[in-house]
Amino acid sequence: MGEKLPSGIELTPLDDAYRADPYPKLHKLRTAAPVHADPDFANVFTTRHQDVQKILRDKEMLSDPRKASENDLSRRFAPEGDQQLSMLFMDDPDHRRLRNLVNKAFTPRAVEDMRPRIRQIVFDLLDAIEGQEFDLIASLAAPLPSIVIAEMLGIDASKHHDFKEWSDISTDVFFNMFPTDDQIAQAEIARDNLNTLFREEIDKRRGTNSNDLIGAMVRAEEDGDCLSTEEVVSQCNLLLVAGNVTTTDLIGNGVKALLDHPDQFEKLKADPTLIENAVEEMLRFDSPVVNSGRIAPQDMELDGCPVHKGQSITTSLGAANRDPAVHPNPDAFDVARQNIQHQSFGGGRHFCLGAPLARVEGQEAVLGIIERYPNLRHGDRGHTYKSVPGFRGMSEFWVHA
Ligand code: HEM
Repeated sequence: MGEKLPSGIELTPLDDAYRADPYPKLHKLRTAAPVHADPDFANVFTTRHQDVQKILRDKEMLSDPRKASENDLSRRFAPEGDQQLSMLFMDDPDHRRLRNLVNKAFTPRAVEDMRPRIRQIVFDLLDAIEGQEFDLIASLAAPLPSIVIAEMLGIDASKHHDFKEWSDISTDVFFNMFPTDDQIAQAEIARDNLNTLFREEIDKRRGTNSNDLIGAMVRAEEDGDCLSTEEVVSQCNLLLVAGNVTTTDLIGNGVKALLDHPDQFEKLKADPTLIENAVEEMLRFDSPVVNSGRIAPQDMELDGCPVHKGQSITTSLGAANRDPAVHPNPDAFDVARQNIQHQSFGGGRHFCLGAPLARVEGQEAVLGIIERYPNLRHGDRGHTYKSVPGFRGMSEFWVHA
């Protein structure tokens, strides 16, 4: 018998070693069993760049958790009662219809127009920081995406505080496959509050010409097909849960990589035109989303490993990003790395809708830090990683000016 391979909970941040540093386990798995039939979760866990990319781009693969087998891991994401599915968990044609309706607001061009406003928000947040030691997450990384999306949706500024609090609570549980009863109860209250807020905002926009994102969704018509109120509510929720924490974690993980590698911080400060490449390297080096996945549409084999119809296939984006076959010397953080092919935004039909926005927010946040805090270093109070399976980010990250 060989050594037991990491499986189940050991491949989530609920495991202490994985939470501190997931990459040694992922390297081990990629070397020993790149397509791993996980005995604990009964899913198939893939770690090679070529496999992850192929699975995510495969048009036959499914995302709707209701199509997963009974008791399969993906079933945990199936909606309850009359809850609407969001596009992340839909298959075509419904997926395409919904995605096309919100797509326009997130094109690289539309987002580039928002860059000056995003820069302004970054500097407002940096200007409000007091003291020599501060928590980068609470001061900048968490509020930035929340303010940006609230403004895009058209939420009134007086409601931003509540909006952020509810969306944080709701998001923490949304992707957590193992929430506690208390977390579930709190998330339900937060979600009800948010949905009430969204329904009020939607009602206000009926019959108006408001050009924010909620207004655009209310008016959107494709093939004569309008979005129902509940569909708009569901898309608003998805933008929060998919966009806020992930962007927070990009900024947190990215700045941590710079502080852990002072030579790279110096390189970027000396040549800020590297910023676009540096943010791609941050996404590769320590991706906010560590796993994505699909559901097998039929019985099949992946690299000799049998996969059953309706079984979950987990694609480890974190492992793919550190695959030495694609990224030489993968554990090195190099802001000038050439030919970065990270999988951090997934791929194929479900490729992250918000990627252009996340990139601009990440770039502006790091540029703002370089300008205001060029001597930034680790603070005395350290950092704490969160333990939401599939994700990687910090709840606190103390830095010193
Ligand atoms: C660094 C930040 C972000 C990361 C790492 C990230 C990552 C991802 C990943 C891995 C997926 C699934 C892709 C797949 O399975 O193929 C995804 C989907 C999605 N993301 Fe992001 N995301 C980020 C920011 C955002 C932002 C800012 C928004 C919007 C405000 C957003 C909206 C979405 C949406 C709507 C989907 C579902 C797309 C679909 O199913 O067609 N994301 N994202």
